[in-house]
Amino acid sequence: MTTQQKVQLTVNGVRHEASVDPRTTLADFLRGELALTGTHVGCEHGVCGACTVLLEGRSVRACLMLAVQADGASLMTVEGLEDHGKLHPIQEAFVEEHGLQCGFCTPGFLMTVHELLRNRPDPSDEEIRDALGGQICRCTGYQAILRSVRLAAAKLRAGHVAGSTQHS
Ligand code: FES
Ligand code: FES
Repeated sequence: MTTQQKVQLTVNGVRHEASVDPRTTLADFLRGELALTGTHVGCEHGVCGACTVLLEGRSVRACLMLAVQADGASLMTVEGLEDHGKLHPIQEAFVEEHGLQCGFCTPGFLMTVHELLRNRPDPSDEEIRDALGGQICRCTGYQAILRSVRLAAAKLRAGHVAGSTQHS
């Protein structure tokens, strides 16, 4: 029998406390315990990037972390991108430039792009490709994703110039 361990996490601005089996991955915790099923699980080996979430603003593979390792941390999942039903500019850009087909990989891409554009608001194509190197998509061929990231960057820069601080 495994002893349950208490964890306390803030996810998308909401504080959660739960008792978990110490072997529970962060991905399984988010999906199973908090019902945040936007974080997808593909390979469960740290290869595909579908499970990418932001931990204290930095992208991590939620399949490679235990929930107990994230105790006390602040997380952002794909559900945290939209704002009162309005899509985040990164999500809008992926829709407009057809950066997704089946959408299975998309949450991981969106979170990785969120991190990239916060650090590099005007990335070169090389920087975009480099940042996305850890994300696997089986459908799009990546060109549409590249265009989506360029458009997302432009949208975010335009919002920033206009003084909008709604999306970060
Ligand atoms: S499910 Fe985590 S990297 Fe593939
Ligand atoms: S859109 Fe299908 S795996 Fe990327």
